[in-house]
Amino acid sequence: MKKYGLNELRQMFLDFFESKGHLVKSSYSLVPHNDNSLLLINAGMAPLKPYFTGQEVPPRTRMATCQKCIRTGDIENIGKTARHGTFFEMLGNFSFGDYFKHEAIHWSWEFLTEVVGLEADRLYPSVYLEDDEAFDIWNKEMGIPKDRIFKFGKEDNFWEHGAGPCGPCSEIYYDRGEKYGCGKPDCTVGCECDRYIEIWNNVFTQFENDGKGNYTTLKQKNIDTGMGLERLATVVQDVDSIFDVDTIKALRDKVCEISGKEYKKEYKFNNQCIMEIMNGAKKDLPNATVVLVLGILSLIFCWCYGFFGLILGIIAVVLAGGQRKLYLQSPDEYTESSFKNVNAGRVCGIISICIAGVVVVVLLLVLMGIVAGIGIASFGL
Ligand code: ALA
Repeated sequence: MKKYGLNELRQMFLDFFESKGHLVKSSYSLVPHNDNSLLLINAGMAPLKPYFTGQEVPPRTRMATCQKCIRTGDIENIGKTARHGTFFEMLGNFSFGDYFKHEAIHWSWEFLTEVVGLEADRLYPSVYLEDDEAFDIWNKEMGIPKDRIFKFGKEDNFWEHGAGPCGPCSEIYYDRGEKYGCGKPDCTVGCECDRYIEIWNNVFTQFENDGKGNYTTLKQKNIDTGMGLERLATVVQDVDSIFDVDTIKALRDKVCEISGKEYKKEYKFNNQCIMEIMNGAKKDLPNATVVLVLGILSLIFCWCYGFFGLILGIIAVVLAGGQRKLYLQSPDEYTESSFKNVNAGRVCGIISICIAGVVVVVLLLVLMGIVAGIGIASFGL
C-alpha cells in the first residue's frame, strides 16, 4: 500500500465522492450557527442538521466535506490512546433523502480497498444488532463472512449527539496488527486498545431525537458518514499514533524545537509525551529545586542535629509558601512538575519541624536535667 500523505488522503476522498455525484463543500466554521445543543462542531453532519430533518433544502442531495471538529469529550482519552485528539478533521459523505445503506456501504468499501488500497482482510465491519439489512449487505453483497461482521448494541452502533438527527450505524475497523494490541486473549474488534481501530462510520440517519430521548421517524432516509482523517493517515502511513502522521509530526517537531524537549525521551506513551512537551512551553518555579533540597536536608539533619534541621525545615516551608503563591496565581505559566517539587519540599520541611521540635525539646529537658543534677550535686543536697 502506498503511504499517502494526510493532505493527499483528504483530496482523494473528496474527489472520489465528487465522482459519485456529491457536491464538495469546504469545512464549515467550528462555531455552530443556530444550534444551541452544541458548543463546538463535533462531526461532519453537525452543520448540516437542517438538511437531514428536511427543515432546509440542501444545495444538492449528495454532499461531501472535510469538517474541522473538536470533541471535548475526548479530552480524557488524550494520553491514554493512540487515536484520540481534541481537534481533528472528519471526512464525510452525506445523502439527504437520496441514496441509503446499499450505496453507502459499497462506496465506503470501494474507497478503502480500491482507492486507498487497504487490505480487505484487515477490515472488519460492525452493525447495530437489530440491523439485519446492513448485516445482509455486508454478508451477501460484499461477501464478508458472517464471523467477520460484528454486532454491537446501542452504545457502539447507534449514533447520536444530543438533540437532532440520529440512527443505527455500521462501522469499519482496521486491524493494525498484534504489535498495537493489548495482548489479552479476548482482544478483538471493539477492544479498547489500539489494535482494532475504527476508521469509518456509516450512520443510517432515520430518526430525530428531541434531546429528551424521544425519537420520531424522519420524513426522509439519510446517510451521514464520518472518517477521522488523522486515523486514516495513521493506518495508511503505519505509524504509532495520530501524533506521528506527516502533518501533525511537522507541528510536533516545531513544538519540540520551541520548547527544547525531545519527543518520546522520557515517556512511554506518545500522547503523555505531547502533554509534557506542551508543558515545556511553561517555566519551572524559580526556587522549586531549592525548596526540595532544603526540605530533604532538613529531614536528614533533624534526627541528629535537631536545631539545624529545625532551621532548614522552617526555611523550606517559608520559601515553599512564596512559590506556591506564585503557582496558584498563574498556573498556566509554571510547570506542574516544579509545583510538585515545591510541595514535596514543603512536606519534608513540615515533618522535620515536628521531629526537630521534639528532638530540641527532649535535648532541652535533658540539659535542664543535667543542670539540675549538677546544681543538686554542687550544693551537696
Ligand atoms: N456523525 C458520525 C460520527 O461522527 C458519522 O461518527
